[in-house]
Amino acid sequence: MNTVDKMITDAVQQEIVRAENLAAGYPGKTVWQGANFSFVRGEFVAIIGPNGAGKTLLMRLLLGLQQPVKGTIKLFNSQPKRGNPKIGYVPQRHLIDNDTNIECIELVRLAFSGTRWGFGLSSKSERKTAFEALEAVGAAELAYQPLSALSGGELQRIFLAEALVSNPEILLLDEPLSNLDIRRAKELVQLVNKVVRLRNVTALLVAHDINPLLPFLDKVVYIANGKAATGKPKDVLTSESLTALYGVNIEVMRDSRGNVAIIGIEDHHGDE
Ligand SMILES: Nc1ncnc2c1ncn2[C@@H]1O[C@H](COP(=O)(O)OP(=O)(O)OP(=O)(O)O)[C@@H](O)[C@H]1O
Ligand SMILES: [Mg+2]
Repeated sequence: MNTVDKMITDAVQQEIVRAENLAAGYPGKTVWQGANFSFVRGEFVAIIGPNGAGKTLLMRLLLGLQQPVKGTIKLFNSQPKRGNPKIGYVPQRHLIDNDTNIECIELVRLAFSGTRWGFGLSSKSERKTAFEALEAVGAAELAYQPLSALSGGELQRIFLAEALVSNPEILLLDEPLSNLDIRRAKELVQLVNKVVRLRNVTALLVAHDINPLLPFLDKVVYIANGKAATGKPKDVLTSESLTALYGVNIEVMRDSRGNVAIIGIEDHHGDE
């Protein structure tokens, strides 16, 4: 391999996140432990697992809002810090008032100016940047709508624009698909995939159902029963690997379209 090729390979493989023997939790309570994973630039990663498994907790570690109980987690090769402008974040519960009548473009502009204090950009050029972020998520026509007038799916697009406006290197999307119907969920996943591929951004997307994501994923982190399994979906999502990891019988079933159902941890419907 010549030097240029090697530089290209190194750039492509640049490590964005690395966890070693990581345990996470809250005072007096370890939620999961023994996690080892790394994500490189431009990977699309799903974080899945049941309620309370500690998926949001992983995001909080990367946001520097939470310290590891044990082990290390590195983001861009250093300890995660609060307020990192390289992170685009869409929280599970977005703090907007339901009857706020701020326009979409204003929400996105505020996110942009919030990360660029003192750069002295005019409000006009900030609005232009905000409009471009809305265009990138196919929401240009919503720019001058008040947030209160949007559907759940439209709102998720606006939040994605808000997270993208500062050109982040990593996207943390906590359950952006909840409340979306199958078609809207598919559209949003395709949109995130487009962002990942075109901008070479690393995206971590928390979801309950992995199926809409499967065609696009590079990796999956499956968090359950205090543990986290990571790898390519085809390696992690097998009965053997999950049973070995969790020590209880877990069955991964696939239908003819390649959809998976994980039975044993996640799919309790009360009558089984
Ligand atoms: N501030 C806190 N103090 C103590 N425990 C907490 C706190 N916040 C969350 N937890 C607990 O940590 C565990 C993991 O929470 P987390 O929010 O990461 O779960 P999750 O996988 O995101 O769940 P969901 O799918 O419901 O969003 C849960 O048992 C939760 O009750
Ligand atoms: Mg959560």
